[in-house]
Amino acid sequence: MKIMVINGPNLNMLGIREKNIYGVMDYSDVVKYIKNEGEKLSYDITCVQSNIEGEIINFIHSAYFDEYTAIIINPGAYTHYSLAIYDALKAVNLPCVEVHLSNIHKREEFRHKSVTAAACIGQISGFGVYGYILAIKALENYIQESVG
Ligand code: DQA
Repeated sequence: MKIMVINGPNLNMLGIREKNIYGVMDYSDVVKYIKNEGEKLSYDITCVQSNIEGEIINFIHSAYFDEYTAIIINPGAYTHYSLAIYDALKAVNLPCVEVHLSNIHKREEFRHKSVTAAACIGQISGFGVYGYILAIKALENYIQESVG
């Protein structure tokens, strides 16, 4: 199973930005961690990151054209207002899990709403980088159940 993990704006700043909220692991270590844990579960993981909305949309489209099985996305602040990312996820219609490192429901009010989660199977929020691993496991379970 090929999974594309898409990280949005400012997630390249992990390990530097607001460590009390997002932790001390930097982005390259997060990528290593996701790939390692994914490989242990026999998944082929590709991690991409962009600070630009259109590039994130292009990643979502390429997940479809390159025949990925599923998407894991942390859209960063785009979560809260990007209808274009929502539309892209709906367009490709691949199983998708939304991940947030922090518990967005416990933070400022503007973070409580996700416009992108409605295009996903579900959302994992508040478990730090382990959230990406939970998302892989959730996708595995979802795909097994839908195959029957
Ligand atoms: C985030 C939460 C968003 O509200 C924020 O804008 C981010 C990171 C998270 O992973 O907790 O950039 O998606």
